[in-house]
Amino acid sequence: MANTKSKSGNGSKRSGKSKSNANGSQKETSGNGMQPSQLMQLFEEELKDIYWAEKALTKAIPKMVKNATSAELIEALENHLTETEGQIKRVEQVFEIIGEKATAKKCEAMEGLLKEAEAIMEECEEGAMCDAGIIAASQKIEHYEIASYGTLRQFAQTLGLDDVAELLQTILDEEKAADQKLTEVAITAVNLEAHEGEEEGEEEEETELETRSKR
Ligand SMILES: [Fe+2]
Ligand SMILES: [Fe+2]
Repeated sequence: MANTKSKSGNGSKRSGKSKSNANGSQKETSGNGMQPSQLMQLFEEELKDIYWAEKALTKAIPKMVKNATSAELIEALENHLTETEGQIKRVEQVFEIIGEKATAKKCEAMEGLLKEAEAIMEECEEGAMCDAGIIAASQKIEHYEIASYGTLRQFAQTLGLDDVAELLQTILDEEKAADQKLTEVAITAVNLEAHEGEEEGEEEEETELETRSKR
């Protein structure tokens, strides 16, 4: 009978919550903490998600390399492609440790980020502008990965899966370093290229870019 409470409705403020109340009994048990099996289930879901994301990245990074012009950016992307391939193997190791078959589950977020990257590459002019666009898109991707691996590592620690947490920490460190590298490339190579050889003649364009960035 207690469940009818939510139906009788205490006004509009509660209406949004009545849905979650419908799961009342389940919610109550998780109120003081999750069951290990529930956390494990979440962990596996996240792992399948990032496994898909990493695989998608091994296909996407070469496209970025093709569109990039800065030697430094190309090198950073190629290095991270190699790292990404290693990360896939580490994620597979994690699946093995937890006794699950390595399975990829489509990651909507990464799919969106990659679509955005492709759109940027189509819209940008080749050269410094495209390089800056690729860096912007790549850093969004890195930040998604950092968030994912940070969560996964924490889940593994909570579950007492120390070996798994260590593997995930290694990947997390690589993602953070990749993000840092992209920041360096953005500061050095791309900006320098935009200025080099553009001395006077390109001043107009520079002003136009500045104006655009202010919009
Ligand atoms: Fe990665
Ligand atoms: Fe990455």
